[in-house]
Amino acid sequence: MRKRRLVIGNWKMYLKAPRAAKEFARALRRHSAAFAGVDVALMPPFPLIPVVAEALRGSKLEVGAQTLSAYEDGAHTGEVSAEMLKALGASAVIVGHSERRAEGETNDDVREKLQRAARAGLKAVLCIGEKERDASGDYVGFLTEQLSSALAGFPKASAGKLLIAYEPLWAIGKTAADAMKPAELRETSILIRKVVADALGREALARVAVLYGGSVEPENAPALIAGGDVSGFLVGHSSADVEPFLSIVKACRL
Ligand code: PGA
Repeated sequence: MRKRRLVIGNWKMYLKAPRAAKEFARALRRHSAAFAGVDVALMPPFPLIPVVAEALRGSKLEVGAQTLSAYEDGAHTGEVSAEMLKALGASAVIVGHSERRAEGETNDDVREKLQRAARAGLKAVLCIGEKERDASGDYVGFLTEQLSSALAGFPKASAGKLLIAYEPLWAIGKTAADAMKPAELRETSILIRKVVADALGREALARVAVLYGGSVEPENAPALIAGGDVSGFLVGHSSADVEPFLSIVKACRL
């Protein structure tokens, strides 16, 4: 397992005003001396990337985007390419978030986007997760297919920039009480690593980080990081305010 921990704030459309984004980034920066062993990144909506990048410039904190285009350029109204994101100061991007998949993004789109991010040298946070779990264990096949489909043809040399965020849909946007329990997460993390090893090889696996997302809050972060066998979290609603986000980062300190 990678030694450093990672906490990524997925702002979704919670933070909208440039001023609020700037204040948040500055506050985070002021506290960053206390982030021992934890890499922290913020993923604002596209228009806020430059403001956050500017506020974090010269620090170790990173800024990323919530999605990217599968295309490089051309007639693609509304799309934003990997190179454009880099030019705005982004060093990372979320790929295949369930809220994008719900808007029609397919496994094939996710694979294309993941490779596009890798080719551009962006860190890619690949999201996977099942809609539901029942006793029949169908989620195992679902996750295996979702992950192996996304990783087909992924360049092994980019494994160090690949992060897999396991986000079960049934746990997203709820409360700590509805989130996954550490023991279940540990089992799923083992499954994810096996699929990554099958797809990219054991050597690459050692460089891939596995994160958890889905109602991570200050209340459940300590138990999930202690017992979940993950390197950190992709945080949604608890990243919309500085205080809860900071508590989660601190819970991940080494
Ligand atoms: P949540 O969202 O923390 O609000 O559940 C996580 C995510 O969707 O990335």
